[in-house]
Amino acid sequence: MATLNLELGGSQAAPEDADDGVWLTCIECGETFAPFDDVRYTCDDCDGLLEARYADAPTFEDFEGRGVWRYSEALPFEQGVTLPEGDTPLHRAPDLEDDIDVRNLRVKHEGMNPTGSFKDRGMTVGVRVAQEVGVDRLACASTGNTSAALSAYGARANLETLVLLPAGKVAAGKVAQASLHGARILEVDGNFDACLDIVQDLAQRGEAYLLNSLNPFRLEGQKTIGFEILERFYEDEGRFPDRIVLPVGNAGNTAALYKAFRELVQGGALAPGDVPKLTGVQAEGAAPMVEAIENGYEDTERWDDVETRATAIRIGNPVNAPKALPGIRNTGGTAVAVSDERITEAQRNLAEQGIGVEPASAASVAGLRKLRLAGEVGPGEDVVCLTTGHLLKDPEAAAEAGADPEPVPNDTDKVLDHLAGKRVGVGGDGLLGKVLGYVR
Ligand code: F0G
Repeated sequence: MATLNLELGGSQAAPEDADDGVWLTCIECGETFAPFDDVRYTCDDCDGLLEARYADAPTFEDFEGRGVWRYSEALPFEQGVTLPEGDTPLHRAPDLEDDIDVRNLRVKHEGMNPTGSFKDRGMTVGVRVAQEVGVDRLACASTGNTSAALSAYGARANLETLVLLPAGKVAAGKVAQASLHGARILEVDGNFDACLDIVQDLAQRGEAYLLNSLNPFRLEGQKTIGFEILERFYEDEGRFPDRIVLPVGNAGNTAALYKAFRELVQGGALAPGDVPKLTGVQAEGAAPMVEAIENGYEDTERWDDVETRATAIRIGNPVNAPKALPGIRNTGGTAVAVSDERITEAQRNLAEQGIGVEPASAASVAGLRKLRLAGEVGPGEDVVCLTTGHLLKDPEAAAEAGADPEPVPNDTDKVLDHLAGKRVGVGGDGLLGKVLGYVR
């Protein structure tokens, strides 16, 4: 296995003005900053990504309570703006496990968070930091889930929220959430990456506090996915999983999981050899991380044209790549691209196990299947697939992937005839029209 680079970049030494054993370090040049005296997202000196660092590394004994704040010893605060979040199921999926042919297949269903995605874990911490630094307007660019989470947590904290979405490319459930929680929704004539460029400009001009995963505190909350997986899997199996497979968009989660593992190794709670292999999955039409891994690039190259049915990961410029690429490489993982057809098939496979997820989430299972078929994942592996968002986020995709409703007359005998396969006449539109009629 590749060596685990604990530091990623920058020194471990605390700056003199660190608050309560927490500070920020630039992963490129090592410059350190006090965490909350100023609003800052990247390094003042070199514009590199920042990472939260702590004087004390966590051990499993430090964790108590439930949800994200169980892990407060590894977070910058004791408590945040909470709904509450985390503590999501680690499902077994026995049929899928047999079918894909791995020793263990578990599904960590992050769609079971309060707003239906893992973003809530980042927002409970990020919005708490927004309170600490004293801002009055929150903002994010989003393929949908970040905007839904920020809108809910912003509402909870009584802060104004602005979300920028790529027009026409965000699933219905997510826009509905942002709308009802009271965010101002700006639909941009451009893709997610263009929205993020604008939000970064707004943040730079002091117009809003940016809560995309470029904000290092978001990733602190998302780190708890890694802690939870390790704790639960160990409880059940008496060992840690070999591999975690996850969908990748902006690569925030990949970076966050890697950070969780590094901190546990640093605290002596996890042996370097027990760190799971981080395995990223992208859609073929939006796969700059896969390209970077396959070609050994230091950073990703921006894809200007991206397209996939998994709109949550329709991203061509993953801003966290400098944190996530070392995570994939240093844990001995890999990255793989899957087609939209395989994503939909995996969404059905999960649904057959009772696990309802949105398309981007199913990419993890599609990726695992592809790697297993290619022999890159062996039959003896214990694998956890991360499913990041709930089925109801994208009702249109679910209806298209699922069975069509069958129109029947308002009559029990005719319903029975229909069930027995007899033709019973009913008027009305074609079936697909009805399905879409229900969900629109
Ligand atoms: N899965 C879902 C359901 C997502 O919403 C996202 C990201 C990802 C996976 C990828 O995660 O960015 O950490 O690699 N959605 C963001 C959003 C971009 O705006 O909701 P990542």
